[in-house]
Amino acid sequence: MNKLVIANWKEYPASVDEAVSLARACDISGLVLCPPHAFLDEVSAAIERASLGAQDYAPDLSSRGVRYAIIGHSDRRKAGDTDDIVAEKAALALDDGVSPVICVGESRAEREGGDADRAIRSQVISALSRLTAHAKDLPVSSTIYFAYEPVWAISTAPHAVPATLSDIVHGISVIKEAVLHADCPFVVRYLYGGSVTEENAGIFLAADDIHGLLVGGASRDASRIKNIWQQSQKQH
Ligand code: PGA
Repeated sequence: MNKLVIANWKEYPASVDEAVSLARACDISGLVLCPPHAFLDEVSAAIERASLGAQDYAPDLSSRGVRYAIIGHSDRRKAGDTDDIVAEKAALALDDGVSPVICVGESRAEREGGDADRAIRSQVISALSRLTAHAKDLPVSSTIYFAYEPVWAISTAPHAVPATLSDIVHGISVIKEAVLHADCPFVVRYLYGGSVTEENAGIFLAADDIHGLLVGGASRDASRIKNIWQQSQKQH
């Protein structure tokens, strides 16, 4: 099965012209580009092969050509998105025909306090609560994604380091177990995000349990994200 590479540009770039030229430079099928919300339409018009993603849920995404929405990113959670809000946005996205990419992951304090598994499990259970409750009204053939993004591994965190492969495989196994217990009717795929680079992407992509990557910093440079994408193509 193809591995997915999602480019999360976050607040980059500053201008629409730069966003369009970055989008053109990485217009490759199998790559999902998530520009700042303000540039969605221009990036949508600039790409032919790449897919469009949004960095958060908004009501009008599918009509703007968006196929994926990142939900519950730690930046959004820090800005006030509670587990309930994340759950609601995930259900709304799916209802709009957009695949939610739900970010879950423990903070550094939770990891150091031995509380990581519980934190991950509770985020997953909460995110699935509305999806499973409203499953009969939602397109069950849709795919939902969980991105394991330990907060301490995201490049903007102080002293960030990428998670090791065994950290990631463990984190994803905790997510999977919670998904199984929730009796989730949707197709679920599992991604990793946090300080992914051209150097470590191949190691992560080679693991059967990791279905793709969510890439922040390294996605702002066309040659770096294309290198990561190329490595994802070897992993079918
Ligand atoms: P990073 O960002 O690759 O720069 O660590 C990942 C993310 O925040 O989604």
